[in-house]
Amino acid sequence: MQNTNQSPKIVQYLQILGEDYTRLFLSDIGLKYVVKFHRVKHYRKREVVNEFIAGKLAALLNLPVAPVHVISLSPELCSKVPQIKGSRMQGNVHLAIPYNEKAQPFKQIEDKIRSFSIKNQQQLARMIAFDFWIVNMDRSRTNLLISCITENEISIQMIDHGKCFPGDYLWDKETLKLTPEHRYNMPIYKWALSHIPNENELYESAHEIKLLEENIIKEILDDIPKEWEVTKVEKEALLSFLMNQQHDLEEYMSSFLSYHKYV
Ligand SMILES: Nc1ncnc2c1ncn2[C@@H]1O[C@H](COP(=O)(O)OP(=O)(O)O)[C@@H](O)[C@H]1O
Ligand SMILES: [Mg+2]
Repeated sequence: MQNTNQSPKIVQYLQILGEDYTRLFLSDIGLKYVVKFHRVKHYRKREVVNEFIAGKLAALLNLPVAPVHVISLSPELCSKVPQIKGSRMQGNVHLAIPYNEKAQPFKQIEDKIRSFSIKNQQQLARMIAFDFWIVNMDRSRTNLLISCITENEISIQMIDHGKCFPGDYLWDKETLKLTPEHRYNMPIYKWALSHIPNENELYESAHEIKLLEENIIKEILDDIPKEWEVTKVEKEALLSFLMNQQHDLEEYMSSFLSYHKYV
């Protein structure tokens, strides 16, 4: 059994996933991994950084995410990957997440699952609070995976946290000072709310996030691979942004609930 903390050894390119720059690879022990590349485009400078931080924070909070791994791809393997949309990979340190073969994006099965129960229902409120904490701009219907457990029961898995923090793909210490613009109106949130029996779950989830200690968050930021070029000053700015967000999170949940009551 492979240790889940251990980085996989990627040996083979398989296919393109989604519509942009995400691709599927195979590891030396036959497991599939979703790979995102460092600076696949200049404007996506922070994509893997954001995936790494959000993935680690979400795992710390026991949210339904697969573990994120830092991997290295040999230049020889990279040269075999078909280039799309003029992309190029910078360096050989990238990010990999285990591929969930049994799951489908919410968008593909939303009609079928309307009356199904959700095994990890309590994660819905926690997902919303988390998204508001990191200012996730992209909880679209393709960025929530659904696994069917039985004929009428599903579980959720959160994916794709590349677009978060003010400034998203291009955040820096200046953009982090901007007032966060949260996306209240994502259809996923409306769906999630319809399965949350008590709005207190949102406040409790915000409170749990508030309890995450600064030094633990700092350790995650300190673990960002140096190849991804986040400076010490930028890490400090991000840490203080996350701490401020913790402070404001219950208020954000209140605004979120008001928005959904009146639309
Ligand atoms: N861990 C995963 N398991 C199964 N499918 C995945 C996983 N991660 C991504 N996918 C599939 O690949 C698509 C693209 O991946 P995503 O992380 O959303 O990147 P992007 O939208 O930036 O290309 C997803 O919509 C989903 O269909
Ligand atoms: Mg996506």
